[in-house]
Amino acid sequence: MSHAASGMKRLLPRPARVLLLALLSAASLPAAEAPARFTGSPSCATSMCHGGAGELRHQTTIWHKQDIHSRTYNTLVNARSAQIAAALKIPDATTSSRCTTCHAPFHDVPKSAFLADITKPAEGVSCESCHGPAEKWIRSHTRPDFSHKDRVLLGLRDLNHLYVRANSCVACHQAVEPALLAAGHPELLFELDGQAVSQPKHWREKGDWQGPKAWLVGQAVALREMSAQLAKEKTPGEKLTAPWTASLWLLQKLDGLDSALPAIKPASNATQAHRAADTLARRAAEMEWSHELTRQVLQRLTKTHTEFADAKIPRAQQARRAERLVLALDRLTSPLDKAALAKLEPDLKELFALAQSLPDFTPEKFAKSLESFAKKL
Ligand code: HEC
Ligand code: HEC
Ligand code: HEC
Repeated sequence: MSHAASGMKRLLPRPARVLLLALLSAASLPAAEAPARFTGSPSCATSMCHGGAGELRHQTTIWHKQDIHSRTYNTLVNARSAQIAAALKIPDATTSSRCTTCHAPFHDVPKSAFLADITKPAEGVSCESCHGPAEKWIRSHTRPDFSHKDRVLLGLRDLNHLYVRANSCVACHQAVEPALLAAGHPELLFELDGQAVSQPKHWREKGDWQGPKAWLVGQAVALREMSAQLAKEKTPGEKLTAPWTASLWLLQKLDGLDSALPAIKPASNATQAHRAADTLARRAAEMEWSHELTRQVLQRLTKTHTEFADAKIPRAQQARRAERLVLALDRLTSPLDKAALAKLEPDLKELFALAQSLPDFTPEKFAKSLESFAKKL
């Protein structure tokens, strides 16, 4: 379900850029070694490799034809980008690192970090933006005597690991400079499960994809990024503090759920929340998940209908809580069977509709709808 797509989003600023460049270059290499260089997507795209037909070779075709990541550069030349750039007094969005860091990451990588002069920022979010610079793993990654672990040691990012995957995606999908938001950039809201499921697949997931577990890892990593941003901003506005507070509220509902998961304390400041959220993300990625756990999380989250009915909690705060809560309900119910989902669908639709617009949010209506949803669970 992708109701959330347009109305619910938000993104990353300078710190994100630093994080992203760090992720893009030095990832998992010993400090003394020179960082691996990029080869660019053409080196992946020959028909014998990832540019052919059929399930084993179609990665480039899917990325190029179906995946928005191959077109993120083009976004920088559309009318909306022109407006955002004008408001920020940026002469050209396609060459400003305030935009390219996420929409055309190769723009910010120095020439010396490329193996050959073939790599173009217009590639958008390219193979190596997610998989890591290929110089050191490209020759060995087809060798049968090399294990996945060996390739990971050479810098291939282990995206099969939820914590690693979440870190790769969140670098571009959560925090954005407040000035960009003020200039009209969409707010970003990272949600690993939903975003992973809606990325056109050029792979087959290894093992069972556990949506609720991915959701939790993603939410913890999102809270960590928001906390890092908040700790750095001297004058964080409501656009930073409100989503952070809501995210903290949501994850606190899981306190004591499982002994493997550390608690997020109610009085956390941004620095404490940063550390706690990172630990939560790492542990969640490693733990055994179960349907029973999903059920318990759902129960705890839907019980909050009494809080939405509490007129003492400011409406704006309630609206931000609702925004994250509906995405959670969507993902946590996704593993249910068809009949069970069909029963919940009308309430879920209504909850999404009620949470869609922050200014029009009416907590009483939301509380009623959430209570009805809780009863049907
Ligand atoms: C932190 C990463 C990041 C930065 C920096 C960033 N963007 Fe984005 N941008 C995104 C993501 C992710 C989306 C997708 C939002 C969605 O659909 O939820 C997006 C969406 C957009 C959209 C709306 C999509 C469309 O097709 O119209 C525009 C326009 C845009 N960005 C332009 C810019 C411009 C211009 C800059 C620089 C001033 C910029 N972005 C900087 C990550 C970023
Ligand atoms: C936005 C991020 C992203 C981009 C861009 C991207 N990939 Fe992937 N790719 C993934 C994820 C996530 C997986 C699943 C990883 C897993 O489960 O091991 C994956 C899996 C793969 C796999 C399967 C690996 C395996 O062990 O099963 C191949 C091959 C691959 N990608 C090649 C490419 C190529 C070639 C490109 C560029 C044309 C590309 N990818 C671009 C995120 C990305
Ligand atoms: C280097 C930055 C970058 C990385 C890394 C990245 N993305 Fe994106 N992604 C973007 C940008 C920029 C857009 C916005 C596309 C546009 O409209 O121009 C986007 C759009 C999307 C969209 C469609 C819009 C939305 O928000 O629903 C999905 C889904 C998505 N990304 C999933 C992922 C996943 C999953 C990963 C990790 C495996 C990932 N992305 C990694 C930059 C990135």
